[in-house]
Amino acid sequence: MVQLAVFGAGRIGQIHARNAAAQPGFHVKYIVDPVEGPARDALAKTTGARIVSAEEVFADPKLHAIVIASSTSSHAPLVHRAAETGKAVFCEKPVSLDFALTQSAVAAVVAAGIPCMLGFQRRYDAAFRALQARVASGEAGRLEHLIMQSRDPAPPPISYVKTSGGMFRDTAIHDVDMARFLLGEEIASVYAKGSCLISPEIGQAGDVDTLMITLTTESGRLAQVINCRRGPMGYDQRLEAVCAREVLRVENAPQGTLHVLRPEGTLAPPPMNYFLERYAQAYRDEMAGFAALITDGTPPLATARDGLEAQRLVEAAIRSHETGQVVVMAPGWRP
Ligand SMILES: NC(=O)c1ccc[n+]([C@@H]2O[C@H](COP(=O)([O-])OP(=O)(O)OC[C@H]3O[C@@H](n4cnc5c(N)ncnc54)[C@H](O)[C@@H]3O)[C@@H](O)[C@H]2O)c1
Repeated sequence: MVQLAVFGAGRIGQIHARNAAAQPGFHVKYIVDPVEGPARDALAKTTGARIVSAEEVFADPKLHAIVIASSTSSHAPLVHRAAETGKAVFCEKPVSLDFALTQSAVAAVVAAGIPCMLGFQRRYDAAFRALQARVASGEAGRLEHLIMQSRDPAPPPISYVKTSGGMFRDTAIHDVDMARFLLGEEIASVYAKGSCLISPEIGQAGDVDTLMITLTTESGRLAQVINCRRGPMGYDQRLEAVCAREVLRVENAPQGTLHVLRPEGTLAPPPMNYFLERYAQAYRDEMAGFAALITDGTPPLATARDGLEAQRLVEAAIRSHETGQVVVMAPGWRP
């Protein structure tokens, strides 16, 4: 039985701890979250875990792995502690809002040789995975360009915006990671533009609420990322991959299957409400991926290096947005 500790009993910690507890071969031994409250207690009760301090976790030689689902600023120090104590790590994105800290945490993982995976759950989503497999099989022909659209149902609270690291680091990191996953080639240049079109409060906080990023690969293939803090029709997660022989498209996942057909037109069911619903199965599958990594060394779909590369790209996008220039991703480019 693999013994685990889950850090963070917030939004995503609740999901990961429950999925880990349901994973055959996994036992959630500890929950760590310094903030007391009913959500933390209920999570410990449901998973059968004990609430302990981080010190207790890292002092336990029988503890095999940690799941880092706590606030972003805690990720890099926890990754370092896991590397020092030889524990496997599942780390939510991003490793850190500070690129240098991400670099040093990823270097520590590599030097220690601990199993590690990043929480890019879209790579585990059945639809995106099937698209990637079809591209990789060669059936569709060469993937020439990609269009990715990600829109939240509504802007988050301004308190969230202020600690998020900004929209590029907070949301676009998933899309640039997906571009690397599907294109299977490194990005050679980045051009980005952001704007504040929805919420003046977000602008006053120094962030954008709408952004686009154009990525160009070393062989000249193109990907367009479109992110927005508001989707007028709800949570919007669509992707189109234009290949030499086929167009591959992932549509929004509907809440139901009821279509209302009337003389004036057809009313389709709305998209799933938000990421916790849309990616519920992907979160379960990525925890199964973590189990496979620990038990038989199956490589995860998202590695620590993928976390670093996605972060390099969003940092380049921020630089491009701020300067109006294309950022050429020379080997070793750093923010
Ligand atoms: N991959 C995804 O789809 C996805 C979705 C949501 C959040 N996230 C990431 O997960 C992380 C958490 O996000 P959230 O929305 O659950 O936040 P949240 O604020 O709901 O929960 C974070 C929890 O971590 C706890 N915490 C803070 N410092 C801690 C520490 N040192 N040790 C243990 N617990 C600590 C807080 O008390 C809080 O309960 C963020 O890094 C976020 O970017 C990823």
